[in-house]
Amino acid sequence: MLTLFPETAAIDDGELAIGGVRASALAAEFGTPLAVYCRQTIEDAARAYRSAAPDALPLYSLKALPNVAVLRLLGEHGFGADVSTLGELRFALEAGVPGERIVVHGNNKSDEELRAAAEANVRFVVLDALDEVERAAEAGVRDVLVRVTPGIEADTHEKIRTAHEGSKFGLPPDQALQAVAAARAAGLEPAGAHLHIGSQLLRMEAGLETVDWLGPFLARARDELGWQPTVVDLGGGLGIRYVEEDEAPRIAEFVAALLARLAQAWEGPAPQVILEPGRSLVGRAGVTLYRVGVVKQASPELTYVAVDGGMSDNPRPQLYGARYSALLANRADEEPTHPYDVAGKHCESGDVLIHSARLPEPRRGDLLAVPATGAYTLSMGSNYNSVPRPAAVLVANGDTHLIRRRETIDDLMRYEAATLSRS
Ligand code: LLP
Repeated sequence: MLTLFPETAAIDDGELAIGGVRASALAAEFGTPLAVYCRQTIEDAARAYRSAAPDALPLYSLKALPNVAVLRLLGEHGFGADVSTLGELRFALEAGVPGERIVVHGNNKSDEELRAAAEANVRFVVLDALDEVERAAEAGVRDVLVRVTPGIEADTHEKIRTAHEGSKFGLPPDQALQAVAAARAAGLEPAGAHLHIGSQLLRMEAGLETVDWLGPFLARARDELGWQPTVVDLGGGLGIRYVEEDEAPRIAEFVAALLARLAQAWEGPAPQVILEPGRSLVGRAGVTLYRVGVVKQASPELTYVAVDGGMSDNPRPQLYGARYSALLANRADEEPTHPYDVAGKHCESGDVLIHSARLPEPRRGDLLAVPATGAYTLSMGSNYNSVPRPAAVLVANGDTHLIRRRETIDDLMRYEAATLSRS
């Protein structure tokens, strides 16, 4: 079970510690639910990308966890940012990411977003629709990539596949070539192609198939348009282990295999490669700590352990049927006795975080730790049932650093316009 946790996770006197800090100390100081991030795990993942692809431009796909401190930390390892909205662009700029290390995505970019990209002098705007060509040129954008959908079904949840025929992202090959021609006519400089086939990929095949597909596509681009791209952005997508049965390729293995295949598929001078990992940088690094409240036997076979969060801090079980596992952080060395369903506190029967988690008879007040919750949790959280979103801390070598403060109910009240007109 500890292998799902961050690299520094250890059992210390029967208690889970991360980055040298005990779960009970974290919960006492910052409250629960709490998103705990291990600095070393993030940095080791960043180093793994850098050493597997030293010549590539690495971008952190910040939708996985938009956080200024984490962006700064990754910036120290040479990472820029992939952003897809004005808000994400602001996070990147706030963290001091230089424009030349920002790539702007989005299947429906507004004129305002295009202008902001141009103003920030971003490295590339990724064209995702034919009508974007003119609008990008008018907004002052110059350097672009064209996102192409090769029609490949990645082996992952259907809601996070992006390169199949009929995807809302990117352009089918014919239209992608039209976009290249139109971009040139509009005075833009199309430097290359962007491909992102999906997320939480646990197998290499679809990625390799995509790179193979790129060879003939680029040959066609050369023959039909005389276009010789110099950049290829392979997106993100590498998955992580959520439960013990999962197996995921290692970063080094995943990147090396893609690059080796690209070298075979590519004709002409080697391209500049861009990578956009999100989940594989921060997913394993994050653990959510919850406080156990009600323990209720609902039927002879089913006992619920209710925690003080749920679908407002992690909607992935509801969205993707995502599976997680859990450890009682304050009694981490006790043997599990029974399977329990870990329920959230929200007013929905579907607010169940984990089915059949094996735990040692949980009691009110225990701390429950859910590993592999670093990516797409806080970023997709909500205020459902007017629940404020959790705080996040970064831990390392016995030190804790608050990287996002807990929301308060007063924060929620600030959005309220309380007066009604009399008419
Ligand atoms: N590049 C592009 C253009 C993307 O759309 C994404 C993710 C990434 C990079 C980063 O992918 P990653 O390395 O994190 O797989 N909410 C879903 C995941 C959605 C992914 C969206 N795009 C989940 O919780 O599984």
